[in-house]
Amino acid sequence: MKRRTSVIAIDGPAASGKSSTAQMVADKLGFLHVDSGSLYRAATAAILRREHDPSRWTEQTVLDAARPVELCAARTSFYPVLEGKAIEEEIRSADVTRHVSRVAQMPRVREWVNEKVRDAASSRNVVVDGRDMGTVVFPDAELKIFLVADSRERALRRLRQTGTPTSEQLLDDETIRIKERDARDAKQTVPAEDAVTIDTTALTQAEQVAQIVALSKERAE
Ligand code: C5P
Repeated sequence: MKRRTSVIAIDGPAASGKSSTAQMVADKLGFLHVDSGSLYRAATAAILRREHDPSRWTEQTVLDAARPVELCAARTSFYPVLEGKAIEEEIRSADVTRHVSRVAQMPRVREWVNEKVRDAASSRNVVVDGRDMGTVVFPDAELKIFLVADSRERALRRLRQTGTPTSEQLLDDETIRIKERDARDAKQTVPAEDAVTIDTTALTQAEQVAQIVALSKERAE
């Protein structure tokens, strides 16, 4: 059945500014933000609660742990809830970040995430961000954006976001971690043929947001 709501899909590699940009675009347009990565992270947090040794995880045990996760709507965004509680802090932990790409390789976990994201978009206008929103999940999205940025710039933004004081060594280490995650996520991080690629290395957040809002207004006309 054809969707009656609007979808703006923002994809791109780790720390390319997708989520914060998507939230600001959503706020400007009066849409809700859905961060698909938060669901992969929630599945990872849920299995980590049950089994701390990732070598013992199977697709089935991850799915079983993830099933109780719900995607709830707040005023400006959807957010994952586990056992009745928001788990924002837990899903951003270093442990979850280290293991999430492995969980995201599991095809049935991907189906589980995609269904939840599509369900959210069935009742509300949304800006969704992730890796494969414009390719796999919403091939019919009204607007598809692919954000890219230099890996060192992304590492710098990540350090600033976490409030870590920046040194050359920390920046080198974070750049390596980001490149490793790029390599692990490469398969699903591909721009849709009809996506607009925006290189944000030299852009401010406000500039990125303004470009995307302008594009969405153009499309709507
Ligand atoms: O966007 P974020 O970095 O929070 O996503 C966490 C992880 O979830 C990514 O490193 C990737 O492995 C996975 N992911 C994905 N497909 C998406 C969104 C996230 O594979 N659509």
